[in-house]
Amino acid sequence: MIDSHSSTHQDWLVVGQGAIGLLTACQLQQQGSSVRLWLRQPASLTVHFRALDGSSRHHRFEPWPASQPIQIAFIPVKAYDALSCIQQLQPLLAEDACLILSHNGLGTLETIQPLLKPKQHLWFLTTTHGAYIEPGNQAGRQLVHSGAGNSVLGAIQAGSDPRPSFAKALNLAIGPLLSVTDIKPYLWQKLLLNCLINPMTALHQVHNGELAKPHFTSELTQLLDEFCLLAERAGYPQDKAAAWQQLQQVITQTASNRSSMLQDRLAGRQTELEFITGFVLREAQRFDLLLPGHAQLYQLCQDAGF
Ligand SMILES: NC(=O)c1ccc[n+]([C@@H]2O[C@H](COP(=O)([O-])OP(=O)(O)OC[C@H]3O[C@@H](n4cnc5c(N)ncnc54)[C@H](OP(=O)(O)O)[C@@H]3O)[C@@H](O)[C@H]2O)c1
Repeated sequence: MIDSHSSTHQDWLVVGQGAIGLLTACQLQQQGSSVRLWLRQPASLTVHFRALDGSSRHHRFEPWPASQPIQIAFIPVKAYDALSCIQQLQPLLAEDACLILSHNGLGTLETIQPLLKPKQHLWFLTTTHGAYIEPGNQAGRQLVHSGAGNSVLGAIQAGSDPRPSFAKALNLAIGPLLSVTDIKPYLWQKLLLNCLINPMTALHQVHNGELAKPHFTSELTQLLDEFCLLAERAGYPQDKAAAWQQLQQVITQTASNRSSMLQDRLAGRQTELEFITGFVLREAQRFDLLLPGHAQLYQLCQDAGF
């Protein structure tokens, strides 16, 4: 874990006005970092932030100045927006900019990495914190930090500093933060949970806790078996019994939650299916594997319109 007592002052750009971005922006600002936002339409933004303990506070953010080079950017966007977002930031990126991407699913890094200059470094952060934006009439954004979690940070390119200075600020903002030299095994572990819970809850339109019911057991078991076969081939072997136990634990701990894919489906928004089940199926093709459970689930989700 990162030492939480070190200096944390940095000039941060945070992309978007979404839940994870604003959670991180508010927490960074609270500890004294300078934070400005990159919005689709540049503007100031007030955030009404409800913390885990129920207390509230306000934050005010200014837009990133149009001509200022970007040194450090936190990019917590949906997987399908990651590439276009980096392309938009590109003209302003400093020669040695640090970019921290954060999203569920996999399959974006391959297209983003080739865009970066030799000294521009890409990190990935995965988090189990929960946050959402509450609809309301108040001006600004109503942000709720709904679940305590932890985060894992890892460099994507070989040769990056395994403990970058900005990790200290992220530890305070969205920690406890584990800094690792190889983040891929963590992303596959997260993918395992995401590719079982997200499409199943979104397809059947149920809260996470419903998946503990016996009529879902055989389908979840098949999906897990298939995932473990793929993960083994891809070089990220999973302990099936431990994975099943973790799945049950997450389902129980988040029983009353709606998965992000279900929320997106209900709101008529694009989902991250292509970067979750879609990624699993593309990887399976690469290894000549048939995953009938995931293929059927993907098809049913597509037939249902998401
Ligand atoms: N929320 C959670 O509790 C949670 C927990 C763990 C992981 N995650 C994952 O973390 C990622 C982010 O989640 P989230 O809930 O914060 O998503 P979100 O609420 O949709 O936030 C993403 C934000 O990024 C903005 N954006 C995308 N591209 C942009 C661009 N080029 N320029 C400016 N703004 C841009 C979006 O704007 P528009 O709305 O205009 O598109 C939106 O405001 C997702 O992959 C999610 O699955 C979320």
